[in-house]
Amino acid sequence: TLDSRTIEIIKSTVPVLAEHGTAITTHFYKTLFNNHPELLHIFNHVNQKQGKQPQALANTVYAAAQYIDNLEAILPVVKQIAHKHRSLGIQAEHYPIVGKYLLIAIKDVLGEAATDEIIEAWGDAYGVIADVFISVEKEMYQVAASKTGGWDDFREFVVAKKEVESDVITSFYLSPKDGAQISEFQPGQYITVKAVINGETYTHLRQYSLSDASGQPYYRISVKREDQKGNVPAGIVSTFLHNEVSVGDVIEVTAPAGDFVLDSENSRPVVLISGGVGQTPMLTMLKAVANHQPNRKVTYIHAAINSKYHAFNEEVTNLANQSENISYFLAYESPTEQDKETKNYQKEGYVDLAWLQSILENNDAEFYFCGPVPFMKAINKALQDWNVPQERTHYEFFGPKGSLE
Ligand code: HEM
Repeated sequence: TLDSRTIEIIKSTVPVLAEHGTAITTHFYKTLFNNHPELLHIFNHVNQKQGKQPQALANTVYAAAQYIDNLEAILPVVKQIAHKHRSLGIQAEHYPIVGKYLLIAIKDVLGEAATDEIIEAWGDAYGVIADVFISVEKEMYQVAASKTGGWDDFREFVVAKKEVESDVITSFYLSPKDGAQISEFQPGQYITVKAVINGETYTHLRQYSLSDASGQPYYRISVKREDQKGNVPAGIVSTFLHNEVSVGDVIEVTAPAGDFVLDSENSRPVVLISGGVGQTPMLTMLKAVANHQPNRKVTYIHAAINSKYHAFNEEVTNLANQSENISYFLAYESPTEQDKETKNYQKEGYVDLAWLQSILENNDAEFYFCGPVPFMKAINKALQDWNVPQERTHYEFFGPKGSLE
């Protein structure tokens, strides 16, 4: 624990650090990777370049520091990040390294304003925060390893089947190379894939939601090919998976992780809303309800550009046909001529509140949603406008989250 003087220094300097946030984190990552290039095997280089991840880590340290005398309060946020860390294989011995270069960056950027006392206080605070992460993650590694069919680091899987789901989405069925069991997972969880790409110095790690029901002898992920768009380069890993990985190839993955999961104790009607490849965790949730809570009402709402980009239509249609409790609605942003002829969708354009109100009896449901950021913002706003209480809206962003706030 920290003494009251240290806590006072931390709380009074958080705003200063936050103000110099970008400078500190840029400096931090530069010196971190110069001195520990091996960490480039773990960190997402693309997020680094776009400056997203640097903000996530440092902002979280500052935000946590504001709660330094009551870290219990931020445990839910710690857990969400710890799932990601465990899924990436982050170890206790990585923490002092990150702490060292974070402190050096604070010192270098603040210059004389960073007195010895301030630096020391931040060193202590980082240590306390890091210990919380380390202990939460230690337990997660133990849980992952102790499950039936579980494991706690990377494990080799063979691509057993590769299936095109739409013009941009392809599924990979992954079977464990050792032929042994694989652990069950909660609907909504993801795995980390390690991509070893010819010509790349470092490995690339990416998270993909599981897209088929738990309890099968394989895991299925469904990957959207991220093509180049203007200045944004093509996705290295998604291009690699689509173009270079074939049936029979071996890739390493970590055990399922993540806390964006369906609460299956709850029997309130559930509404699953997805945009594009954000469909993957929703599909697993739909299957979980169909398999384990057949009496629970589910409304499955999906937004796609049009039928060419639309994956899993048959899978979802079949599920909906098998149960009176499942209803399925589609919004196509710009239907093709053929879509228009067959009218194989219910709404042209975006998902909006008026349409949601026209297909749902009332707002008395648990809402789960996932998709591109603008989509998520629109859905979140629509649900707020409909007075859906916050505790009944559940969502996940793909990619790094912002700060705690
Ligand atoms: C991701 C915070 C320590 C490696 C993240 C994220 C946050 C975060 C907020 C984004 C989570 C998300 O996307 O959902 C922290 C804090 C730390 C810490 C507060 C210290 C107290 C570490 C350490 C390592 C590490 C020691 C390893 C050297 C990563 C990696 C990611 C990540 C690789 C994934 C994003 C990427 O690849 O760029 N961390 N982290 N973190 N963290 Fe940490």
